[in-house]
Amino acid sequence: MHYDVNLKRNVDESYPILVVKSQQEIIDEISQLSYNKYALITDSNVQKLYGRTTLFSMGSVFSFEAGEQNKKIETVLSICEKMQGEGFGRDSLIIALGGGVVGDMAGFAASIYMRGIDYIQIPTTTLAIADSSVGGKTGVDTKYGKNLLGAFKQPIAVYVYPEFCKTLPETEYLNGMAETIKHGMIADASFCDYLEVNREMILKRDVDVLGKVALSNCKIKAGVVEKDPHEKGLRRILNYGHTIGHAIEHISKFKLSHGQAVSIGMAVEGKIACMLGNLEIKSLQRQNKLLSDYGLPIVIPDEFNIDDILEIIKLDKKSKNGLARFSLPCDIGRMSKFDGEWASSAEEPIIRGAISESLSRDGH
Ligand SMILES: NC(=O)c1ccc[n+]([C@@H]2O[C@H](COP(=O)([O-])OP(=O)(O)OC[C@H]3O[C@@H](n4cnc5c(N)ncnc54)[C@H](O)[C@@H]3O)[C@@H](O)[C@H]2O)c1
Ligand SMILES: [Zn+2]
Repeated sequence: MHYDVNLKRNVDESYPILVVKSQQEIIDEISQLSYNKYALITDSNVQKLYGRTTLFSMGSVFSFEAGEQNKKIETVLSICEKMQGEGFGRDSLIIALGGGVVGDMAGFAASIYMRGIDYIQIPTTTLAIADSSVGGKTGVDTKYGKNLLGAFKQPIAVYVYPEFCKTLPETEYLNGMAETIKHGMIADASFCDYLEVNREMILKRDVDVLGKVALSNCKIKAGVVEKDPHEKGLRRILNYGHTIGHAIEHISKFKLSHGQAVSIGMAVEGKIACMLGNLEIKSLQRQNKLLSDYGLPIVIPDEFNIDDILEIIKLDKKSKNGLARFSLPCDIGRMSKFDGEWASSAEEPIIRGAISESLSRDGH
């Protein structure tokens, strides 16, 4: 005897991304949605900087000490329990106001709170605007590694207020620029042109130009996520620069920021693409010039050892049969497909060659 529980579902997880000119616009948008209570989740830095602004008067504030080290299950648990203490029910809305750490944790809290409630993202770092606020990946780190617990949970809306970027420290600001240039490289040559032409305004943090950059970033990332919401194939292209980037970030003991590491990662992986005959050297040179014009590094610092990097990329969760795999560009704005997949293995001598040519002691 048996019974098949038939739960085939067709869900619509669409949501709008809005670039706004004032905090009031966000409040007006949210007020039109029918929620009973608002839980604003943020971190200590954002609270210090913006705690007196109107957004903070929307509902109860749940703030945690800023920093990746607090992106852990205990923080989420503590927020959820405080929300329960304050009587937040299923008709509540979580508002994630902060960088990627806030967004990932608030989204995760939304995915488990009373088996799931709605949340919105209000990203306040360039990285969160360009990358983490779109796509629905949420989660926390464990002592075994980053983002090892989590869920796919799409927000119901993303509101981008570029003015927030004005208070970011320079390194944080440039972190998002590395992901931005990555988006141009993987999907949109005209966006790369735009980044070249408007560099000065972007580096001056002109809010109108930042709004346009934000929208292009979101469109590119959302375009990829729409085609591959659960990371089965195409989404791999978003990892361009990240296989080498993660290894370098790790070896530097996080002295290199994520954006700096990804920038170097794109330079090395771009070189691998050239060595495999997929990318013309002049396209790589153009990518690298764009990165360095934005103050991002493209060479591996002296103290790095090739074998350490190779060792780590072999352990990368995307490796296959002990061979590291890379998503590689075939032109500015276009990625290569290898045997139907958006990633390719590269033999060790090629990777070694690309890394060795990218070491600063080689005089680059
Ligand atoms: N979900 C995804 O798809 C995805 C994608 C990429 C990265 N991530 C995650 O995002 C996190 C990194 O995000 P991040 O770089 O935004 O880090 P973050 O959230 O730690 O923010 C960086 C720093 O900037 C501060 N800050 C935030 N907004 C500010 C503002 N407007 N002015 C001044 N300071 C401000 C923060 O308090 C923090 O100190 C990582 O945990 C990473 O795993 C997630
Ligand atoms: Zn990244």
